[in-house]
Amino acid sequence: MLHKDIFEELMNEEELSKTVTEMAQRINADYAGRELIVVGVLKGSVMFLADLFRQLTLDQCQLDFIAASSYGSGTVSSGKIKITKDVSCNLIGRDVLIVEDILDTGNTLSYVRDHLMKKGAASVKICTLFDKPSRRKKDIAADYTGRTIDDLFIVGYGLDYSEHYRNLPYVGVLKAEIYS
Ligand code: IMP
Ligand code: MG
Repeated sequence: MLHKDIFEELMNEEELSKTVTEMAQRINADYAGRELIVVGVLKGSVMFLADLFRQLTLDQCQLDFIAASSYGSGTVSSGKIKITKDVSCNLIGRDVLIVEDILDTGNTLSYVRDHLMKKGAASVKICTLFDKPSRRKKDIAADYTGRTIDDLFIVGYGLDYSEHYRNLPYVGVLKAEIYS
């Protein structure tokens, strides 16, 4: 099938780049003079994280990763989260910024945030490229949001549908007939 039969473009490369730059500028301003540990949530955040992290101008800025999965795959999150790869940095007393592709029900990020707080972080903030607030099940909000979207299923620029389409350089809305 052709790509245009599968999804419609939501954000092109230029729009993504502009959004990521604006987010980096806000983070640089907010954390100026401080030390930061950026924790990318694998795998969806990798493209966003790579573009964002290279625009952080903080002198003391470390990078780590965490992977969490909700049991099962597909487009619906089950709500039960487990950490499949933990951070390796010592977080005690540190300022942490979680970088995620999309905040949906909030199950993943509320679990990850609590998990990192329990490791003794001084602060844990959330940076997400996309937010779908209409689907929220947990009381959680991002500190930095690239774009708020309706209840759509999006792919590309790291975001997947059953591990496919992460390699698209832009973000598209997956047509409902593909996953329904
Ligand atoms: P939550 O736990 O429901 O907030 O879901 C967060 C995770 O679900 C994200 O990290 C994504 O991996 C995945 N997800 C939610 N919505 C989408 C989407 O529209 N496209 C691709 N992945 C999504
Ligand atoms: Mg995912």
